[in-house]
Amino acid sequence: MLTEKMENALNNQLNAELYSGYLYLSMNAYFKSINLDGFANWMYFQAQEELTHAMKLYDFIISRGGRVKLAQVEAPPTLWDSPLAVFEATLEHERKVTGLINDLVDRALEAHDHATNIFLQWFVSEQVEEEENVGGVLEQLKLMGEAKGGLFMIDRELAKRSPTGAAAEST
Ligand SMILES: [Fe+2]
Ligand SMILES: [Fe+2]
Repeated sequence: MLTEKMENALNNQLNAELYSGYLYLSMNAYFKSINLDGFANWMYFQAQEELTHAMKLYDFIISRGGRVKLAQVEAPPTLWDSPLAVFEATLEHERKVTGLINDLVDRALEAHDHATNIFLQWFVSEQVEEEENVGGVLEQLKLMGEAKGGLFMIDRELAKRSPTGAAAEST
């Protein structure tokens, strides 16, 4: 059984994952609007992944006898200055989420809630991957600088990302 405090904390994280999905979907729409379909594709699957994170929390809260309490999801930005600005915002967001997950782990340990701690370890590893993948794209965008050809090359690479994952994530 979850304590009320832990239940609330997990519900907050559920909301944060839904917001991540919202944010990346908004980024997908932005990339679509500037005809960078590869970038858009990458964000589409990124958004889907966030929804699976939300559902993991959803299922876990219920399986521990807790109550899922869905709350309002904040509206994400809809416009960015450039693909570089999008990926800077993405890395910043993922770092923030890593902080949230780490705080949750701290809470679980303090409460001696081992089941929640073990459950959260998946998210700890996932955040390492998320930061690495996003950071990788960001590095490419920085290296490219003003060269338009580079942008289309990265776009082609990001078009390869599929639901199961890896193609563009390993770049
Ligand atoms: Fe996530
Ligand atoms: Fe994420």
